[in-house]
Amino acid sequence: MKIDILTLFPEMFSTVFEESIIKRAKEKRIVEINVINFRDYSKDPHQKVDDTPYGGGCGMVLTCQPIFDCIESIKTEDSRVIMLTPDGVSYKQEMAYSFAKEKHLILLCGHYEGFDERIRSICDFEVSIGDYVLTGGEIPAMILADSIIRLLPGVIEEESHIQDSFNDHLLDYPSYTKPQVFRGMEVPPVLISGDHKKIDEFRMEMRYNRTRERRPDLLEK
Ligand code: ADE
Repeated sequence: MKIDILTLFPEMFSTVFEESIIKRAKEKRIVEINVINFRDYSKDPHQKVDDTPYGGGCGMVLTCQPIFDCIESIKTEDSRVIMLTPDGVSYKQEMAYSFAKEKHLILLCGHYEGFDERIRSICDFEVSIGDYVLTGGEIPAMILADSIIRLLPGVIEEESHIQDSFNDHLLDYPSYTKPQVFRGMEVPPVLISGDHKKIDEFRMEMRYNRTRERRPDLLEK
């Protein structure tokens, strides 16, 4: 998979993809990540990428030209353009699964007051990572990239994401490791019983209870 991230602040991405699982996925050539500054595509003599809003109001609006030119220069039939915006559809694990099937994702990060509305016409999806407003789309783009890359075949063992939180609309079960007792807190005995049927039942019950307590909205699905 290829992921192109379009941003005015490429430095923000200098370390996030250089550690751990994502770093290994890049080394194994499962994913290629390019961070592109769309200011480089501006035809303005001062490389401006934003302007004041028609109709007045505060803040600056990202202009069409640099973003259209940038996207058009990298887009192919296989590309899906995703705009990161608080006005987008709420991002969910099932969307991560669906994006993980694509060959080429273009993640467009906004900044300032927002995008010129016409930029939406060149995007296939508009995604929000939650009901709060951030200073830009960079952190949301990192979140999408991370959640998608870990699902690509060969990145982590498939078994570990089959049981992830949100699969089957349930949160994950609690995990324990050594020691068996820590400051008086014990590992549930069933996990040391060696009875795999009982362990599976216990974990499913924990997933269900935890979801009912913390995220009853998921159970309605
Ligand atoms: N840009 C600013 N806030 C955002 C959010 N919540 N989701 C996606 N992009 C954003």
